[in-house]
Amino acid sequence: MDVIKLGMIGLGTVGSGVLAMIQEHADKIYAVTGRRLVLKTVMVRNLAKHQDVAEVVHLTTDLDDILSDPEIQIVVEVMGGIHPAKEVITQLLQAHKHVVTANKDLIATEGADLIRLARANGCDLMYEASVAGGIPILRTIADSFAADQITEVKGIVNGTTNYILTQMAQQGWTYAAALKQAQQLGFAESDPTNDVQGKDAAYKMMILSQFSFGTQVNLEDFETTGIDAVAAQDVRQATAFGYVLKLVGVARLVDQGIFVEVAPALVSVHHPLAGVNNENNAVMVRGQAVGDTLFYGPGAGALPTANSVLSDITTVVKNMILKTNGNSFNRYSQALPLATPAQ
Ligand code: HSE
Repeated sequence: MDVIKLGMIGLGTVGSGVLAMIQEHADKIYAVTGRRLVLKTVMVRNLAKHQDVAEVVHLTTDLDDILSDPEIQIVVEVMGGIHPAKEVITQLLQAHKHVVTANKDLIATEGADLIRLARANGCDLMYEASVAGGIPILRTIADSFAADQITEVKGIVNGTTNYILTQMAQQGWTYAAALKQAQQLGFAESDPTNDVQGKDAAYKMMILSQFSFGTQVNLEDFETTGIDAVAAQDVRQATAFGYVLKLVGVARLVDQGIFVEVAPALVSVHHPLAGVNNENNAVMVRGQAVGDTLFYGPGAGALPTANSVLSDITTVVKNMILKTNGNSFNRYSQALPLATPAQ
């Protein structure tokens, strides 16, 4: 039987979802790829905390257990944060492991270096889960807009803030109570500062800009405003005047380049984004040829995000099979150069 062994760095909300999906969807994955995936080794910070899975995976605190294991060909990085995740992924790529990550902070800020390193080592680096959780937006932009000129990409790309604003508007909850619930439901980052200050959405808009326009945008290049200063009366007033308050990210082509912004916006109740509630996200992509398109789905949470990770893993597996057969063409992989910032 053809088995592909994986490693994973981190076992939080998304990591647990990945483990569950690999086990529960094994037959579907086999049907699609002709391979059985086995999650062999998981690196965690605290071994005692994860004893419930110790019988099904090898737990370790030592990265070398993954780096120097020749059986492990693909590694999922779900530890989050920029450092030491960058150093960890660098070592993995140098060890010729394919990497799948959900880490938007890292890809938005250091993605160009890592993509170059992956190519130099003949590895895939995939990060569908880094933007809009369960919505397959990066492969859609790379594949389905390959021949069209995108002129604008905008939407709701942070589940935590959308959950908070929805609860404040519909249930009259306080900001603090809604944030606490978002943390308990596993939508928020372990430190939710980046969520509520708009930085998480800004990172996602940077990645969307790279995919849509092939250009690197830095965090300092555009305005980011979060929802931490939004008061209950702001939400009430918006409702009274026929609007809903949403944290909206936009990236659009303008005469001199690209305009990017993340800010709370008053959205008319008649606009498609107004009905995007709770942890759901939506991304509107405008193409010169196709016009306006809308992609909607869960933007956070264990299984939706894990589904994006697994879609990347199956793409890597298909690429591995193609390469073994002497054919290196794969649509998503081939599209990645579009996302590479100017060198
Ligand atoms: N904290 C993120 C969010 C998780 O709320 O959208 C998914 O990226």
